[in-house]
Amino acid sequence: MLKKKIEMRYLLIILLVFTLSACYYDHEEILYGSTTGQPCTDTAGIVSYAQKVVPLLQSNCYGCHSGSAPSGNQLMGTYTADKTMAQSGKLYGTINHAAGYSPMPKGGAKMGACQIATIKKWIDGGMLNN
Ligand code: HEC
Repeated sequence: MLKKKIEMRYLLIILLVFTLSACYYDHEEILYGSTTGQPCTDTAGIVSYAQKVVPLLQSNCYGCHSGSAPSGNQLMGTYTADKTMAQSGKLYGTINHAAGYSPMPKGGAKMGACQIATIKKWIDGGMLNN
């Protein structure tokens, strides 16, 4: 009877240790730099302009930078315009808040590390219209 009680105690301790240590390295934000709590899977393989880059620019940039009177005279919103901005270094410079560039999105929070990495991979991959 006594032996069984001791065994149960050990079992509980082992279980507790496992539970705690399992959680320890589970912080995806720290591991992957994601702000959504999801691993940064968007940078896997070739980054699609249409499927990955446009939605990000749409929700962060196009509101001010498309149409007939884009803010700061910086046109975005078409493949040609986005590629031109990327080639000049301004796209990555502004979203990465690099020195010498006006930080974008203007007045908003910096884009997530995973989002920035996704755009950077598209740029580094030759800015394909894919
Ligand atoms: C709320 C409106 C707004 C949003 C959203 C916005 N911008 Fe801007 N942007 C501006 C204004 C206004 C300027 C001109 C003043 C300045 O440069 O800060 C500007 C300037 C720029 C410039 C020129 C700055 C330089 O240093 O050469 C670039 C490039 C740019 N924006 C890119 C972007 C990108 C990329 C996004 C999305 C991540 C974005 N903007 C989101 C308003 C906005």
